Amino acid sequence: MSEPTNTKPRISARLAGIAESATLAVDAKAKALKAAGRPVIGLGAGEPDFPTPDYIVQAAIEAAKDPASHRYSPAGGQPALKEAIAAKTLRDSGYEISPGSVLVTNGGKQAVFQAFAAIVDPGDEVLLPSPYWTTYPEAISLAGGVTVPVFAGAERDYKVDVDMLEAARSNRTKALLLCSPSNPTGTVYTREETESIGRWALAHGIWVITDEIYEHLVYGDAEFTPLLSVVPELADTTIVVNGVAKTYAMTGWRVGWLVGPQDVVKAATNFQSHLTSNVANVSQRAALAAVSGDLTAVDEMRVAFDRRRRLVVDLLRGIDGFEVPEPKGAFYAYPSVEGVLGREIRGTTPRTSAELAALILEQVEVAVVPGEAFGPSGFLRLSYATSDENLTEACGRIAELLA
Ligand SMILES: Cc1ncc(COP(=O)(O)O)c(C=O)c1O
Repeated sequence: MSEPTNTKPRISARLAGIAESATLAVDAKAKALKAAGRPVIGLGAGEPDFPTPDYIVQAAIEAAKDPASHRYSPAGGQPALKEAIAAKTLRDSGYEISPGSVLVTNGGKQAVFQAFAAIVDPGDEVLLPSPYWTTYPEAISLAGGVTVPVFAGAERDYKVDVDMLEAARSNRTKALLLCSPSNPTGTVYTREETESIGRWALAHGIWVITDEIYEHLVYGDAEFTPLLSVVPELADTTIVVNGVAKTYAMTGWRVGWLVGPQDVVKAATNFQSHLTSNVANVSQRAALAAVSGDLTAVDEMRVAFDRRRRLVVDLLRGIDGFEVPEPKGAFYAYPSVEGVLGREIRGTTPRTSAELAALILEQVEVAVVPGEAFGPSGFLRLSYATSDENLTEACGRIAELLA
């Protein structure tokens, strides 16, 4: 029998290069330990702990009974949902769009992926403020692009400015990713900061992908600024990513969207027509109820998140070696833990935040995501989308470990 002659790798280079989502991995590990009977507290996942509001669930039940839901629908989204997204954009962001500039996707995640796929060619550089959400670099590299991280640390509230972006710009720069309120840091750019970055992008012909999925989750005196409300001239070179997951506690329903110029939306819709076709009709009808309804349920959840935010920040600031900028949006705290690294803790000396996160899970059974998932080592991300009791207990355990 002759030897096989095909020496090509089994897995394509494109997919072999993709890392597992670190946040989902931490969450899975925490859930597995919990299922095995361990008293693990999971602060890893980025999802609200509330059930989806009932009027949304009811709309889905009706939709499931409607035979129209049992068939394919237009790949780019149900017309009624696209119209409702246009109306919601006017209500929440203050500018008009046409339903034709909306593409409904399987979650904001697919919108991110398709946004990069639509505008990035091999070799194009994408400026990515760091710490960044773990999915962006993977989506950029799948499109053949090159991620250029622009790091901003805790001392500057994790915010980049125009000078930092300018220093990273080259003649290969195609796009900039903005995410405010931010996952993982919780930082929220002010109106002035958003405008100055937008004007800089406009002046240099740089596309902007602005991920506004946490738009309704801002606290205290922070305000969310939709990019196109302050620099409307960018509309022709901006893709807005959004979705129902975070605002309406709908992570499992998988509905997001992108809003962009007609040629981008057309190209991305063609792509989606081969990739996934329409988003599940029942989920689209649930999303329609969500975005057409008022924001009462969202306001209630925000009040709870805000209380937990203040609680967690207080508790974390009490831990020696943690530096904790105030998160103003989303539902994450992002302490710098440099002050703890290199210290001996119960016989081991963690030198990276990945080692520290592993130690915390092993010793006190609290799951947090290390900074390495979002850029440089030296940070931990803790989601406060869980009960006050869990937060108090989890931070107490970490404090005791590091005391
Ligand atoms: C910044 C950001 N954008 C987009 C998403 C995608 O959310 P989904 O795909 O659940 O709609 C997430 C989810 O974690 C996120 O944190």
